[in-house]
Amino acid sequence: MSNIQSRIQYLRETIEEHNYNYYVLSQPIISDYDFDMLLKELQELEEQHPEFFDPFSPTQRVGNDINKQFNQVKHIYPMLSLGNTYNEGEVSDFYQRIAKNLNEPFELVCELKYDGTSVSLIYENGILVRAVTRGDGVQGDDITENVKTIRSIPLRLKGNDFPEKFELRGEILMPWNVFEQLNNEREKQGEPLFANPRNAASGTIKLQNSAEVARRKLDAYLYYFLGENLPFDGHFENLQQLKKWGFKISDATEKCHTIEQVFEYLKKWDKERKNLPVATDGVVIKVNSIKQQNRLGFTAKSPRWAIAYKFQAEKACTRLNSVSYQVGRTGAITPVANLEPVQLSGTIVKRASLHNADIIESLDLHIGDMVFVEKGGEIIPKITAVDKDARVLIGDKVNFIKKCPECGAELVRFEGEAAHYCPNETHCSPQQKGKIEHFVSRKAMNIEGLGTETISLLYENNLLKNIADIYDLKVPDLARLERLGVKSALNIKHSCEDSRNIPFERVLFALGIRFVGETTAKKIAYSLHNIDKIIEAKEDDLLAIDEVGSRIAQSVVSYFQQEENLKIIEKLRTYGLQMSLSEEKLADRTDKLQGISIVISGTFSQHSREEYKDLIEKNGGKNVGSISSKTNFVLAGENMGPSKLEKAQKLGIRIISEEDFLGMIS
Ligand code: IVH
Repeated sequence: MSNIQSRIQYLRETIEEHNYNYYVLSQPIISDYDFDMLLKELQELEEQHPEFFDPFSPTQRVGNDINKQFNQVKHIYPMLSLGNTYNEGEVSDFYQRIAKNLNEPFELVCELKYDGTSVSLIYENGILVRAVTRGDGVQGDDITENVKTIRSIPLRLKGNDFPEKFELRGEILMPWNVFEQLNNEREKQGEPLFANPRNAASGTIKLQNSAEVARRKLDAYLYYFLGENLPFDGHFENLQQLKKWGFKISDATEKCHTIEQVFEYLKKWDKERKNLPVATDGVVIKVNSIKQQNRLGFTAKSPRWAIAYKFQAEKACTRLNSVSYQVGRTGAITPVANLEPVQLSGTIVKRASLHNADIIESLDLHIGDMVFVEKGGEIIPKITAVDKDARVLIGDKVNFIKKCPECGAELVRFEGEAAHYCPNETHCSPQQKGKIEHFVSRKAMNIEGLGTETISLLYENNLLKNIADIYDLKVPDLARLERLGVKSALNIKHSCEDSRNIPFERVLFALGIRFVGETTAKKIAYSLHNIDKIIEAKEDDLLAIDEVGSRIAQSVVSYFQQEENLKIIEKLRTYGLQMSLSEEKLADRTDKLQGISIVISGTFSQHSREEYKDLIEKNGGKNVGSISSKTNFVLAGENMGPSKLEKAQKLGIRIISEEDFLGMIS
C-alpha cells in the first residue's frame, strides 16, 4: 500500500472515530478546529487521488448538489405502527393481555418514543447499503444519500461479529437547538416556519439536495433490530450489542419486570424528557424476548407485543397581563396574549396566540386572569382555558379591537372568515412591507437580496414604499445602508433587471391581490390574457373563470378600483415587466382537458414529470396529488406505486400511458 493510500485510510478511520465520539457518545476528544483540519486534509488527498475513492468515506457525508427524485423501494418487512394508550389503566390492560396470552414469565423493555420520522436501514457485510422512509408502510423512498449525512449513523460497522445482512429501524430527529436556529434563519428569509422538529426532520430528509441535508445536522436513535441471525433472544440485549457496533442507542432504555416498574418509568420520563436535546412524545413498551414476540405476533396494523404510551401535552398556568394585536402582511389581525413568563417544554413562554375574536369570546377572557397555556403542534403556544376559580378581582373583559393598531382604519370581517382584516392595503405599513416581501419572493418576481430586514430598513428610510419603488432604487442609496455593500446593491439591481423576463401570470400573482394565489393568478391570466382586460373586467367576467368565486372576484375588482394601484401598474409597465401572456403561451393553449382531474404516478421516458404537469395545465386540465372518486384518470409511467394502483382499481379509475396521454392532447 502506498504512503498516500495508508494516510487516506488512517484519516478515514480517525475521522469516523471522532464522529462516533462526538455524535454517538457525545464525548468529543478533539476540538472542532482539529477535526475540520483532518477532514480538510482527507478531502484534498481524495481530490488528488480519485483512484482511492470510497463511497463510505466520511467526506461523503457532506452531501452533494445533484437533484434527484427518490426511487421507491419495497420494505422487506412492512413498517407497521403502534397501538396508543393514554393512561395507566390502558397500559395495565396491555400488561394483562400479554400475561394471559403468554402464560409464562416475561420481561418488558421501556423506551422513549422519539418524535421524528422513522427510517429503515439495511446493512450488508457491515456496510450501510440502503436507507428507506416509512412511505406507506409497504414501500418508501430511497433516501440513502441523505441519511449518509447523519453523523450518528455508521456507514461501516465496528467489529466483525454482526449478521451478514440485517435491518435496523429508528427515528431521524432534528435536535431542538438546530430546529430553533433553522426557524430563526427561515424567519429572516421570509420563508414559512416549521411547526415542530418532527416536520422539520421529515421535510429535511426528503430534500433533493443532500448538501442542504448535511447542513441541517440531523440526529438518529435506533430501536428495532430485524433479521435472521440476531445475536440474542432479548431485544434489550440486542440493543446493547448494536451499541458496540457503533449505533446510537438511547441510554434511557430500561428493562422492567413488573407493571409498577413500568409506571415508575412513565412518571420519571414524563418529567425528565423536558431536559432532553430532542423531542419525545411518549414511551414504547415492548416484550423483551423475540421468541415471545413471535408467539404474540401482529394485528394487521401493529405488533401485539408492543404499545405506545403517549405523554399528555405539557401545560403551564400563568397570568394574562395584556392583549396586543399584530397586523400581518395581508392585513389579517392576530391577537396575542402577553403573559407573565413561565417555563414550558424547555423554553420560557411570554406570549401566546389567541387566534381570533371568537376564541377570545369563548374563553371569556379578562385581563389578570390565570390561564392555561399548552404547546400543541404549533410553534406558538396557545391558551386553552381560564382558571376561573383563581379569579380574585375580575379585570377588564378582553374585547377585540375595532380599529387597526397601525393605521387606525376601521377593521372588517369577510363573510365566513374568522379573522378581522385592516382594509387599508395601500397605506398601512405592515401591509405595505408585506406586499413588497411577497412581490420579491421566489415564486413571484424572484428578486434576490431583499430580505425582510433590508425591506424594513429601506421602508423606514423612505426609499421603498410600494412595489414599484423597487425599480427606482439606486445603487449608491442601497450601498449606503447598514450591512449592505456595493456588491449586494448591484446584485439587487441585476435581479430587478432579470425580473423583466418573469411571465405575466407570475407578475399578476406578485401584485399581492388578496385571495389571488399562484393558481388563481394563472387561471385569470390564461382567460383574460393581459392586464388591461383584467383592469376592465367586471365581477361577472371574473366569475366566469374556472375556480374564481365571488370572494376572489370582488377582491380583484376592488384592487383595480384603487387609483394608487393603477399608478403602480403603470410604473411597472414602463419599467418593462410582462403585462400580457406571451404569444407562444397563448398559441400552446387548448381546452382539450377542460374540467378533467389527472393524477401523475411513476417515472416517464418522453417528458419529465414537471413537463407533464405543465402539459396538463396548458390544455386546461387539473393536476391533483392523490386519487379520489373525482379523479378522471391516472397518467402512469414505469413503477407506478402499488398503493396508488390499488386505489385506482378499487375506484375504477382509468389508467393511461404517456403515449395515450400525448395522443389525447395532440
Ligand atoms: S418500535 C412495529 N420504538 O413510533 C413498530 N417505535 O407509532 C415498531 N417510534 O413508526 C416501532 N420511538 O416511528 C418503536 N422507541 C421506539 C420508538 C418508535 C419512536 C415511532 C416510530 C413508529 C411509531 C409508531
